[in-house]
Amino acid sequence: MTRNILIVAGDGIGPEVMGEVERVIGWFNDNRKFDAKIENELVGGCCYDAHGVAVTDETVEKAKRADAVMLGAVGGPKWDNVPYEGRPEAGLLRLRKDLELFANLRPALCFAALADASSLKREIVEGLDIMIVRELTGGVYFGEPKEITDLGNGERRGVDTQVYTTSEIRRIAEVAFDLAKKRDNRVMSVEKRNVMKSGVLWYEEVKTLHGEKFSDVKLEHMLADNCAMQLVRNPKQFDVIVTDNLFGDVLSDIASMLTGSLGMLPSASLGAKDASGKACAMYEPVHGSAPDIAGTGAANPIASILSFAMALRYTFELGADADLLEKAVDKVLADGLRTGDIMQPGMKKVGTKEMGDAILAALAKLN
Ligand code: NAI
Ligand code: MG
Repeated sequence: MTRNILIVAGDGIGPEVMGEVERVIGWFNDNRKFDAKIENELVGGCCYDAHGVAVTDETVEKAKRADAVMLGAVGGPKWDNVPYEGRPEAGLLRLRKDLELFANLRPALCFAALADASSLKREIVEGLDIMIVRELTGGVYFGEPKEITDLGNGERRGVDTQVYTTSEIRRIAEVAFDLAKKRDNRVMSVEKRNVMKSGVLWYEEVKTLHGEKFSDVKLEHMLADNCAMQLVRNPKQFDVIVTDNLFGDVLSDIASMLTGSLGMLPSASLGAKDASGKACAMYEPVHGSAPDIAGTGAANPIASILSFAMALRYTFELGADADLLEKAVDKVLADGLRTGDIMQPGMKKVGTKEMGDAILAALAKLN
């Protein structure tokens, strides 16, 4: 079975870090019978320069057909003043929208070698491995009415509306339960049902779905403010957390920063399954195009490589291969190699390519 991977490397350091991902995919093809076919397309400022738009219709169609899309990063000062449809972010937003990527997965994974780089104590973060599942296409960022009105008495009123429907809640909860089965079989559902009607609905629907289809997964509920506190107090109590768009935005940033640098953080966005069971998926590092270091060969490729590990686990269902790749990253860090962003005293400073070389060598050793 040939697997189709579309790589859109984008701008800035995107091509540099995605170059290392291509080499890793090549390694899995050669050594683990992965059998992936890679295509490359332009998205972002580079696409605007070539075609006058940030993403072409053909690329959107290719992305829909692909088993997985790997995205580097888009944007940079060069395109700050181009018209909206050419703006790099517009390309990214169109891909997310057209592929219906409603589930955003943000892991917080702590590598032993970096446990001292956390702002929390080593014993609190060492071994940490949690996954935040954030609803991405609904909630208060999109609900109507959304407006600022003039009350005529010298006051103005700003309104945003939190809206969730049964089906929106059920499909994101389903993603969380499915993920939990591939992990520690536990889900924490997070809302504020004490003060929000949409939170009551969230709570009830997650509970109902759990009873119908996922009673073998352990389900617990927590209020969002308590969850923020618990993430900092004792993050290892969590495995999968599922929550709405707004709480997920904040909680995923808290969780990811427990463990270190932007250059280490992967993410995935998953779409709805079609009739044949196929779902679109896009994997990308959390960081941007880092114009300040682009072209210098200094970028950390680990966030992108770990994003590919997520693709192995969640799209291709190759958990053992994902584990292998994560172990290879762990080994390289334990051996003391560091790109500039994660540099610590006494460690060996390397560039993008050397980090990629070391990860490939570690893969060969661990295989
Ligand atoms: P950024 O994430 O690009 O950079 C922030 C800082 O982190 C910079 O100092 C950068 O050098 C460093 N950094 C980021 N990734 C790194 C890596 N892999 N290795 C080593 N150091 C790394 O965020 P910034 O500066 O706010 O945005 C720069 C451009 O990227 C903007 O045009 C922005 O719109 C775009 N952007 C794109 C995103 C995407 O494509 N998903 C996400 C965030 C920003
Ligand atoms: Mg955010």
